[in-house]
Amino acid sequence: MKAGVIGYPLKHSISPQFQQPAFDALGLDVTYRACEIAPPDVPQFIAGLRAGDWLGCNVTIPHKKAVYDLMDSLTEEARLIGAVNTVIYTGGALTGHNTDATGFLRALVDEAGFDVAGKRTVVLGAGGAARAAAVALLRAGAAAVALANRTVERAEALAKDLAVHFERERVAALPLETDALRGPLAGATLLVNSTSVGMAHGPAPDAAPVPTSLLGPHLLVYDLVYNPARTALLAAAEAAGAQTLEGLPMLIYQGAASFERWTGRLAPIHIMMQHGRRALYQSKVQGPESKVEER
Ligand SMILES: NC(=O)c1ccc[n+]([C@@H]2O[C@H](COP(=O)([O-])OP(=O)(O)OC[C@H]3O[C@@H](n4cnc5c(N)ncnc54)[C@H](OP(=O)(O)O)[C@@H]3O)[C@@H](O)[C@H]2O)c1
Repeated sequence: MKAGVIGYPLKHSISPQFQQPAFDALGLDVTYRACEIAPPDVPQFIAGLRAGDWLGCNVTIPHKKAVYDLMDSLTEEARLIGAVNTVIYTGGALTGHNTDATGFLRALVDEAGFDVAGKRTVVLGAGGAARAAAVALLRAGAAAVALANRTVERAEALAKDLAVHFERERVAALPLETDALRGPLAGATLLVNSTSVGMAHGPAPDAAPVPTSLLGPHLLVYDLVYNPARTALLAAAEAAGAQTLEGLPMLIYQGAASFERWTGRLAPIHIMMQHGRRALYQSKVQGPESKVEER
């Protein structure tokens, strides 16, 4: 059988490096590969999944929305997030699913021991990752999710969208500015970075997305950026006495949730985590030519 990840460009996806060892560890005869598919070729690729020898595929930037429109059915998670990151082919039909919120939450609970219920939270960003994080937090019972974004109109639009599914008073939108963030951050116990600030080869690789003077020991700081593992934000959070959580576990857990949907078997998390870390380490020692970016 076959499985894979589609995106464009996709030269340095690390999904094959942690998914293939998972199939192998369970003795499953599945080949998982990276499929770089240009946007006009996505419908043809998706139609090809119906040939019968595919379990399905992961979907990454920039295809998550295009694939959404090509599915026979969608899970509740895919609808809530408005994007598909996992296609499952069963019984002659393609189901669009999204495991980003599950991966986000499982990392938060299993790796950091954080209980979301009743907590006040601040989420930086208003893109796909911020939306998945906000959905996960609201579903898990967070008392408040304040969305802070450089382009405040995008945070407002996201808050409005989320208010269709969750109580309006639990969601707020703010500009990504010191004065606006001071109060919400002082009252929060969780800060999530879902901007691309801090990401290797991204818009501001060495910067933190918030003034580090706003961080303190009352916070768990969760950076969804996973390359590098230790971002400027996490280093500052640690120095301020905050608990920290890096982005790789979310990537592994979202992949593990896809694996479990395809196979009906528990994913070998330990093996996936070990191979994911190794893949990131190799990309670092090999230098910028092997830049890793995948969402
Ligand atoms: N660990 C994981 O499994 C996982 C999963 C998904 C994503 N991620 C990571 O999450 C990050 C965001 O991904 P995405 O898919 O949500 O990307 P996206 O949709 O492109 O959104 C990017 C976000 O970053 C903000 N931003 C970009 N440059 C900025 C800057 N210089 N200053 C302040 N804000 C800036 C954007 O603000 P504007 O709206 O103002 O442009 C936007 O809110 C990436 O680093 C990605 O690798 C990790």
